[in-house]
Amino acid sequence: MPLPRAIVLEGDCLQQMAKLQVQGINFALTFLDPPFNQGKEYAYFSDDLPEEEYWGWMEQVCRAAHQLTLEGGAIYFMQREKNAEHVLRVLRETGWTLQNVIIWVKRTSAVPNEWRFGKQYQIIAFATKGFKPRVFHRLRIDAPLRPEYRYPRENGMYVTDVWDDIRELTSGYFAGEEALRDARGNRLHKQQSPVALLARILLSSTLPGDWVLDPFAGTGTTAVVAQQLGRHSVSIEIDPENVACICQRLSARREADSIAVLKHYYRFTPNLEQVWGETDFPPPVPVPSAQFTLFDSGE
Ligand SMILES: C[S@@+](CC[C@H](N)C(=O)[O-])C[C@H]1O[C@@H](n2cnc3c(N)ncnc32)[C@H](O)[C@@H]1O
Repeated sequence: MPLPRAIVLEGDCLQQMAKLQVQGINFALTFLDPPFNQGKEYAYFSDDLPEEEYWGWMEQVCRAAHQLTLEGGAIYFMQREKNAEHVLRVLRETGWTLQNVIIWVKRTSAVPNEWRFGKQYQIIAFATKGFKPRVFHRLRIDAPLRPEYRYPRENGMYVTDVWDDIRELTSGYFAGEEALRDARGNRLHKQQSPVALLARILLSSTLPGDWVLDPFAGTGTTAVVAQQLGRHSVSIEIDPENVACICQRLSARREADSIAVLKHYYRFTPNLEQVWGETDFPPPVPVPSAQFTLFDSGE
C-alpha cells in the first residue's frame, strides 16, 4: 500500500494543536504519554509543576485532542497508577467516554515500598469521543499457556485489559536493541515507548489510512509504528534534539523498530490482513534538509 504521511512538528503541543484545528485534520486516535511531573531536570519544560497546574494543563491537552478527533475516535492516556483518579476525571470533564483502564504490567522489578504493595504497572486509560468506538478490532494473541491449563489453545485468546506481554524499555542492558542510543551507548530518551505497545494500540483502534496524533512524541514511536501500518501521523515534540531523533528514525532504517515480527503473534485475529495495513518497511522516505523543524514525508 502507498506510504502514509508522517508529519513532525517542533514546539509546544497546545500551540501546534491549535494550528492543526485550522488545517482541519480529523484524527482517529491520540496517544498521550506526557511528562509525568516527577521533578526531573529537562531543558525545554518544567517537570515540577504544582499539581493543580499540571492537571489543568492535561485538561487543556485532552480538550484540544477531543476537538481534533473524529466521532467515535480514541484516546489512550498513559500515566502512573497513582494518578488514575486525575486521569479519569480529566477525561470525563473534557468530554471523553471511558472504555477501559488498561493495566500495563512491568516486566522488570516492582518499585518497592515499605508500607504498601510494590508498584508494578502503569495505567493506560482508553476512552472514546462518544459512547461507541468508531473502530475496535478484537485482537487475538498467541499468549503462552499457563501451567494450570490442560490443553493448548487452538486459536489464541483475545487481548484483555491487562497487558503483561509487552516489555518496557528500562535502563541498562534489558532495554535491548530497540532502545535508541548515542555513539557512546547512552540512551537518547529514558521514556521511549516500545513499538509493541503502539502496535497494539493502533491495531485495536484505527484503520489503515487513518490519522493518529502524538502530542508528546518523544522519540516518535507512534509515528514509526503508524508508518509501518499504513496510518498517517502527526508528532509534536518540544525538544529539538528529540525532533531530530524522530525525523532520523522515520527516514533511516532500523531493524529494531520493525513490527513485522509481531504479525505471527496476532495471527489468530480475524481480518488481520485488512487491519494490519502493511507498508513496505523500511520505507523510502526522503530526508529533508538539515533543519528538522518540520518534517513531512508527503503523500
Ligand atoms: C514521556 S515522553 C514521550 C515518550 C514517547 N512516548 C516515546 O516513545 O519516545 C514525553 C515527551 O514530551 C515532550 N514534551 C514536554 N512538554 C511538551 C510540550 N509542551 N509540547 C510538546 N512536547 C512536550 C518531552 O520533551 C518528552 O520527549
